[in-house]
Amino acid sequence: MKPPPAVGVPQTRLEGPDKVTGRARYAADEPLEELAHGCLVTSTVARGHIRDISRVDDMPGVLGVIDHRNAPRLNPAAGGFFGPDGSLLLLQDAAVPHAGRPVALVVAETPEQARAAAAALTVTYDEQAHDCVFRAGHPAERPALTIFGEDVEIGDVDAELAEAAVVVDEVYHTVEQHCAAMEPHTATAWWEDGRLQAFDSNQGPFIVATTLATLFSLDPKTVRIRAEHVGGGFGSKGQCGPQLILAVMATTVLGRPVRVTLTRRQVFLATPPRPRIRQRVRLGADPDGRLRAIHHEAVFEESPLAEYLENCVEPTRTLYAAPAIRTRLTTVPLDIAPPFSVRGPGLTPGSFALESAMDELAEGLGIDPLELRLRNEPTVGPVSGLTFSHRNLVGCLQEGARRFGWTGRDHRPRQRQEGHLLVGTGLAATAFGTGALPSSASITAETDGTFTVSIGASDIGTGARTALTAIAADALGVHTGRIRLEFADSDLGPAWSAGGSRGTTSWSWAITTAAAKLTGSVPPVTVTADTTEELGALPHRERHAHSAVFAEVSVDPATGEVRIRRLLGMFAVGRVVNPLLARSQVVGGMITGLSMALYEEGIRDRVTGRNVNPDLAGYHIAAHADIPDVEADFVPDHEPDDPSGIKGVGEIGTVGTAAAIANAVWHATGTRQRSLPLRLDRVLEDRPPTGE
Ligand code: MOS
Repeated sequence: MKPPPAVGVPQTRLEGPDKVTGRARYAADEPLEELAHGCLVTSTVARGHIRDISRVDDMPGVLGVIDHRNAPRLNPAAGGFFGPDGSLLLLQDAAVPHAGRPVALVVAETPEQARAAAAALTVTYDEQAHDCVFRAGHPAERPALTIFGEDVEIGDVDAELAEAAVVVDEVYHTVEQHCAAMEPHTATAWWEDGRLQAFDSNQGPFIVATTLATLFSLDPKTVRIRAEHVGGGFGSKGQCGPQLILAVMATTVLGRPVRVTLTRRQVFLATPPRPRIRQRVRLGADPDGRLRAIHHEAVFEESPLAEYLENCVEPTRTLYAAPAIRTRLTTVPLDIAPPFSVRGPGLTPGSFALESAMDELAEGLGIDPLELRLRNEPTVGPVSGLTFSHRNLVGCLQEGARRFGWTGRDHRPRQRQEGHLLVGTGLAATAFGTGALPSSASITAETDGTFTVSIGASDIGTGARTALTAIAADALGVHTGRIRLEFADSDLGPAWSAGGSRGTTSWSWAITTAAAKLTGSVPPVTVTADTTEELGALPHRERHAHSAVFAEVSVDPATGEVRIRRLLGMFAVGRVVNPLLARSQVVGGMITGLSMALYEEGIRDRVTGRNVNPDLAGYHIAAHADIPDVEADFVPDHEPDDPSGIKGVGEIGTVGTAAAIANAVWHATGTRQRSLPLRLDRVLEDRPPTGE
């Protein structure tokens, strides 16, 4: 008899007991014989050449120092998602391209000895002038990569704006942000029977193994990476990290297993940030709120070492209908640590700009910001002309408005006062692109009636194991107790990573395809499925998750302090695999959005080019006391082309929150905040709060 479905049922994390009892082993927890420990030394100058490196060989426990003079040669063809990535080519020459760049690895018997020797190691440099100051109109400015689509130009934006009853034309700024996952980047590498083995903290062991093999010119079959438990990634563990590259170098040179764990400061300095971004948005509408034109351009910083794309205009291509739409993406290469994906790359800052501008437009028109969104709901992709696979933004907005108590809101600013506090509410709508990426999975039907499901997926704390177990159980028509998951190991075959909000869709597709192949087979039998062809044959459609986020804030105009009182997110994310864990994930996302809105800011000293707040004391992330009543729920939605109806919940939680909060701060105070974070000094008013 077929058991009831496991998908759609709230279920706590399968590995929860292991995690809370300390049995779960993260990448730095695996015991190994003869283990040596490496500690990074990072550059203190922003540009130049290494002149000399002092010797620390006679310090206690030191086994060796790896630097550009003795490091294994790396293959410059190795790359990531955006092409060859020069930021991976560590310790290859004396050139220093940015402050915080790893310049040496000190290896010793214990972590303490490695750290002491790394601290004692002196590197002298021939410094060169650096350029670390981000500004639009920089002479090096150039068009960004177009791998996610060319710049958009439909209709006549300027003519439509000239005809519009109300025009918004504003500039929005966001700052350097850091993923700051709780688990620092760590890897343990060793050679065994002619194979390179590693435990690494990453978001996708297969993708990392592939890059690592190219980098060290190895046959991919000889590289095995495992990432059993990962304490958060947020994008920063999406590619081959410095911890792994340096651990592999050290084990290759020294012939012992080597563990490299970044300190918290090194995580800030030597793993990629979100770039600083300047965005200009122009919107024009008729008196009834119908958009005539949307113009969205973004300029972001990057490094000449590695192409990157902060695709801020993604929501602008699909969120609202307009006869004229223009998008531009521009980049400025600077002598900085190469930026990479952080928590909803592109969409999170992009949505802050677009959804702030929409709120400004509602203000100009004198209409309800919720109504403005509803009036511009598209029937097909506004740029692509493609149909939406399924779209329920309207459901998010309407159900969110009902639960939040939006009806009856006085849309004029600065109308609510409680004692010396100003109170306001705001909302934002968002879209996040969804889909699946090629992956493979194997299933073995065992003779005892159980099934071994093998997939090179990774669980960065979200509950991917639990979700995939439910998917597999339903696909095989058995109780979850009969599923054994082999997981997070590059030997299990090609698989997408826990990235781009596409982990669960990609992996579950491979699992359901393998389960279908198994039908009618007699155990013991193993089948393998790969989704590459199936995915390539999918019809072209607009596929997106949607959300509406509502915020209530209080502002103390005398101190500039913004407190969030309530956050509500309504999400359309396709079928929800596990309502408990999915809710937890989007609530977590909303908290990171809150954190972006109020606190997070990587600060670079313009004279030295160095990040001056590379720790969790200087770089503020929302803590419990900052987090109010957060509620999140799901409206009916599904993805018709996905075998399980899933869209994905990875990043949609983060995306809309900052704009909802900034809009609420405007509603409270009457002052627009177009730069994040909403620091005290930006919100502070130099007049008495009661206006006398
Ligand atoms: Mo995510 S920022 O797509 O790893």
